[in-house]
Amino acid sequence: MNIVMVTSECLPFSKTGGLGDVAYSLSKEFVKKGHNVSIISPLYKKINFEKFKAKPKKLYEYDVKMNWRKPSCEVYHLVHEKMDYFFIKNDYYFSRDGGLYGFYDDGERFAYFANAATLLLKELPFKVDIVHVHDWQGGMIPCILRVNYWNDKDLKNIKTVLTIHNPLFKGYLNRDSLYDLYNLPTSLFDDGSVRLENQVSTLKAGIKFAHKITTVSPTHAFELTTVEGSKGLWYDLVLRQNDFVGVLNGMDQVEFDPKHDKTIYRNYNVNNFETNKKLNKIEFCKENGLDPELPLFAVVSRLTDQKGLDLIYAMADFITHEGGNFAVLGSGEKYAEDMFNGLYARNSKHTYVYIGYSDDIAHKLYASSDFFIMPSAFEPCGLGQMIAQRYGSLPLVRRTGGLKDSVICYDSERNNDDIANGFGFDDYSIVEAIKCAAQALNVYNLKKDTFKHLVKNALTTDHSWNESADKYLEIYSSTLK
Ligand code: GLC
Repeated sequence: MNIVMVTSECLPFSKTGGLGDVAYSLSKEFVKKGHNVSIISPLYKKINFEKFKAKPKKLYEYDVKMNWRKPSCEVYHLVHEKMDYFFIKNDYYFSRDGGLYGFYDDGERFAYFANAATLLLKELPFKVDIVHVHDWQGGMIPCILRVNYWNDKDLKNIKTVLTIHNPLFKGYLNRDSLYDLYNLPTSLFDDGSVRLENQVSTLKAGIKFAHKITTVSPTHAFELTTVEGSKGLWYDLVLRQNDFVGVLNGMDQVEFDPKHDKTIYRNYNVNNFETNKKLNKIEFCKENGLDPELPLFAVVSRLTDQKGLDLIYAMADFITHEGGNFAVLGSGEKYAEDMFNGLYARNSKHTYVYIGYSDDIAHKLYASSDFFIMPSAFEPCGLGQMIAQRYGSLPLVRRTGGLKDSVICYDSERNNDDIANGFGFDDYSIVEAIKCAAQALNVYNLKKDTFKHLVKNALTTDHSWNESADKYLEIYSSTLK
């Protein structure tokens, strides 16, 4: 199959969150299974090609019509790990200092991107079968194809799939933008096709026009059809429920592998973790003035409200009072950064705080910690909990979205030592979160065999993409029949 991913970020070139990981590692799995994958994403200023063997080559150049505007586009191409990367270059839109998103004109920037990517589909020297778009940035593409190119000989047979990674971001624009940025008729707004909350939503456009819609875990797919859990999308997703499924994300088990990871202090596997994983904790604690005999609870996360910051803080406060160590790596909301810095100021003997991001320290934390805290308010899938399990750090999660689907929670009444690979609670409440931390401390301190079993289970949990990639391929195939 010839699969084209249209994504606003993709490793190893660009990433702000899970989308960058997923677009890359899922594509890699398709290549492994014998398919051709092309990835279209913007050429951001930050991307530094010098680290990579291949240099991108300019392949195409064309203008992108957006009503009266005709911004130019150059397409650069390179092959990386057998995937064809196509970079959309327009310096006005993408060569900016700062992050990938968050500019006043993001709506226009990604309208440009979606239009440029659609035109690129016409240039590609092979027959495209599937265009797989992600989140609001690519959401309008299925609509452009169905409305503006329904009779185009190159594009009319292309099937589209939309994956929702984060339902919070709707890609809101005003009515006139349909015509002004996307060359689409405003009747699409008037008849409700792309209207949400009385604005144009590019995400809703994807939901309405893509042949299939997915999200990144089965539980989140269910949540997205409920009033409480859908962030406003339930009505439109219920209408499309026959074409909507959740497929649990996998992870890159090569990049994250305690057997070979060069950034951690000592490599380990399921046979020697008791000694060798422990050495990681000892080193990390030594470097940072913590007592290695105490259980170490870690957080590696963007510090945003989605991640359950108040629960994390309550758990951290409890743990550091009850004879545990707490370590956090991340950045985001200023109040959260202040909160954790404050915790450190009051209790530096039990706390480690790194505001910012460091891949190196993140890997060390996964390897050194006994527990990984992730009590998200909502979590379509989540990657941190899977990486933690891969490193034998037991996740403490709120059972929502992908956290529910990827963690088997320890239950002392059911005695499920043989399968549990983490801890969890249901209600978004500080009391429940603290109870969960207390349970983890209790198992660590008093039920050593159970703890060992759980770590072993975590270390042997399979989070590869194999099965989930097959599910996507089935979804693709079902559109091609
Ligand atoms: C978003 C979601 C996260 C998911 C990721 C990749 O960042 O918030 O839960 O894991 O996308 O699909």
